[in-house]
Amino acid sequence: MTIVAALPKIAIKPVLKGNIARAAHPIGCEASVEEQIGFVKANGHYNGPKKAVILGASSSYGLASRISLAFGSNADTIGVSFERGITSPEQTGTAGWWNNIFFKKEAEKAGLLAKNFIGDAFSTEMKEQVVQYIKEEFGGKIDILVYSLASPKRIDPQTGTVYTSCIKSIGEEVRDFSINLEKQEIFEQVVEPATEKEIADTVKVMGGEDWELWIQALMEAGVLAEGFKTVLYSYLGPEITRPFYSGGTLGQAKAHAAQTSDRMNQMLKEKVNGESVICVSKAVTTKASAVIPILPVYASALYKVMIEKGLHETPIMHKHRFFKEMLYGDKREYDENGYLRPDSWELREDVQAEVKAIIDQVTPDNFRELTAVDVFTKEFMQLNGFLFDGVNYEEEIDLEALSQLRP
Ligand code: NAI
Repeated sequence: MTIVAALPKIAIKPVLKGNIARAAHPIGCEASVEEQIGFVKANGHYNGPKKAVILGASSSYGLASRISLAFGSNADTIGVSFERGITSPEQTGTAGWWNNIFFKKEAEKAGLLAKNFIGDAFSTEMKEQVVQYIKEEFGGKIDILVYSLASPKRIDPQTGTVYTSCIKSIGEEVRDFSINLEKQEIFEQVVEPATEKEIADTVKVMGGEDWELWIQALMEAGVLAEGFKTVLYSYLGPEITRPFYSGGTLGQAKAHAAQTSDRMNQMLKEKVNGESVICVSKAVTTKASAVIPILPVYASALYKVMIEKGLHETPIMHKHRFFKEMLYGDKREYDENGYLRPDSWELREDVQAEVKAIIDQVTPDNFRELTAVDVFTKEFMQLNGFLFDGVNYEEEIDLEALSQLRP
């Protein structure tokens, strides 16, 4: 990254292109990290891992996992993510870049190690760098690896082939309402059925292959502690989302990850008395979920119902409950396949019956009243550091000073 002229002071405003955010507010991201740390501190410690690696650590589920493990279990953490800092007055860094910086700042204040690797987690070089760091500077062994990557593409490290994932249905076209966050409108979205190649490519990107390569590399390097655990976040969801989610290309990838987990579980049990876990997680507002077709309407209806029932969770609430009560607690909920199911609140019969009733009535005119689209939108803006009380969004930010901060 080369920055030639001194950067100006500017007020950073949100920029949305459809459901993609093109601007992030550094100070707001700091507020977001602090708020999540505050949640964990207020909601109790657990006796969990002391050395953790989080792949996809810079946002949403991965960041929440890192914050819970660090501030809930006093873990030193290594975070791997793919993020960008300030490159020009118009490109003021991604939210994940700032989250990494401010997480590290807070973790170090608390006396914890927090190492950030920025680059391609799918590459062999990244695995080698992380192994080397664990051996030389991280105490030699790790207790957990959280796999929380969400990516549109993956370069196969062996062949160099670039695979692109897609979110499509399988067999039949699906049509339903979705939300355009920029315009605050709902529109009919068409999800095309995937070709065989698209299904296979999505499995290549979002399935379990890279996860297994990580575990193999760490195992061969001898850095897995006795009792080591690894966890990948999956989604199954209700019938309503099945045609475009668990029954579609992404579902195939998650099924592949689950098969991989079963195999790795056996191996880890034998070698280090460890385990591999699939955590079927709830639908939450993230950079990745906002671009899943149709999901924003489902999520907004779901939030309406779960808020009314006192069950609504953001990523930090969901992941802290998962680690504290399930993975390192005594309240594990398993399904018949042996997957952990913190998503059971989302799938409760009463919740789903009410969600379905809302979705059946939604129109472009009534969706604001019927759903919690306001909550979905606010959470989305907050992912990028906007809409935090206590942050002055009119204030001009010193980009030059911020550009000196390193993750
Ligand atoms: P996100 O988009 O907020 O985060 C993705 C993370 O992956 C970021 O830290 C990003 O920097 C990192 N990343 C992407 N490509 C990378 C690469 N090549 N190298 C290094 N880092 C890379 O995603 P979100 O929603 O938190 O998803 C995480 C996992 O949770 C995914 O596997 C997703 O399927 C799963 N999940 C998400 C749900 C949701 O509602 N968002 C529900 C259930 C599961």
